[in-house]
Amino acid sequence: MDSFLIKGGTPLRGEVEISGSKNAALPIMAAALLTPDPCVIRRVPNLSDVHFMGSILESAGATVKFQGDTVTIEAARVKGVGDYELIRKMRGSICILGPLLGRTGKALVSLPGGCVIGARPIDLHLKGLRALGAKISIENGYVNATARKLRGAELFLGGRAGPTVLGTANVLMAAVLAEGVTIIESAACEPEVIDLANFLNAMGARVSGAGSPTLTVTGVRSLHGAEHEVIPDRIEAATFAVAAAATDGDVTIRGARADHLHAVLDKLREAGVSVERSGSALKVSRPGRLKAIDITTLPYAGFPTDVQAQMMVLMALTPGISIITERIFESRFMHVSELARLGADIAIEGPSAIIKGGKALSGAPVMASDLRASAALVIAGLAARGTTEVSRVYHIDRGYENIDGKLRQLGAKIVRQEAS
Ligand code: EPZ
Repeated sequence: MDSFLIKGGTPLRGEVEISGSKNAALPIMAAALLTPDPCVIRRVPNLSDVHFMGSILESAGATVKFQGDTVTIEAARVKGVGDYELIRKMRGSICILGPLLGRTGKALVSLPGGCVIGARPIDLHLKGLRALGAKISIENGYVNATARKLRGAELFLGGRAGPTVLGTANVLMAAVLAEGVTIIESAACEPEVIDLANFLNAMGARVSGAGSPTLTVTGVRSLHGAEHEVIPDRIEAATFAVAAAATDGDVTIRGARADHLHAVLDKLREAGVSVERSGSALKVSRPGRLKAIDITTLPYAGFPTDVQAQMMVLMALTPGISIITERIFESRFMHVSELARLGADIAIEGPSAIIKGGKALSGAPVMASDLRASAALVIAGLAARGTTEVSRVYHIDRGYENIDGKLRQLGAKIVRQEAS
């Protein structure tokens, strides 16, 4: 397993280009199952999760061709079955359930299973699909869904932690070919859901309200192929912004959508970080002392849970007491124990982490656990004195395209050590 060797203490300086969004690309690739025509999706990030999704779509009968950052998917014939082993390994693949059901009337996919950040249930996905008339049973680790004809319905998709992003995507992708009108209340408002709705409409679907808590879908008889460019990855952009601030650097982030980052930019500014917009670029620097702040993660447009770990590193470097409360996932503090190995002083009280910041971090060997926690450990290594080794970086390769190359371009002393 590869690891990163990071020599800390160098401020990041220069320009970085943001890749397409992983969390938009995955459901959009799955949506290509809804038509027999070829779909061309551009600005797809070169990530293991994306290539994994390609293999899953092939296991369902589609042909998938990657050329640079463009993928062409042709699902001329589709089996209603997704490869058990593949789906079990990547939670995001659950979003083939809706399109398989919508296209073929049946879907046999493995339960995605939990991961280190939480149980990751799919009860809301199944509630929405059942509301559209699907018969669903759970047998031997599989979700077995069938529907002679999906019918539009009014349904509420909110759960104990608010809306579900992939649950909204699944129900949306099943509804576009259902008979009649579907109204999804408490739909997720994330930009990635808007991007999926835009792609579906380009395929001939009739979806309105994307980005609001109420989605209205008028079913159509069939969909045709379409071309689409995926939105930039707001979480990657936020990660580089935090890295710039944490290393007292001066970084221009190109290709991001500032309108997808309001909550993150607001908190960075509150913490004393300067974020200036120049055209479509964001210039991040740290003019003065950082200030301790409080953060609570919320559904979009609130502060994103996927930037929580990264911000915790910045707060560990900030004199004073900061409190970060995680309201989306039940155990998304895996990075705390690893940050403690670098000298961070963080106590967990229920859903909150209390960060006594201000002491310099010192490099040490640490282990990545989930995608965003791993990114946080890299940021910590960049800011720490001495050398940090981050092991199991396959977690990072799932969601960040060439992160070590992009960081080196910004002056970071980071090398990838191939596993012997
Ligand atoms: C998406 O996961 C993202 N993944 C996650 O990003 C992100 O953290 C999450 O949304 C929240 O923004 C992709 O888009 C591939 P949810 P998703 O369903 O859709 C509960 C990353 O690092 N819930 O919105 O799986 C759930 O347990 C990843 O890129 C139910 O209770 O998340 C959680 O507490 C990590 N029942 C909350 O809702 C359900 O049926 C939000 O989960 C579904 C979800």
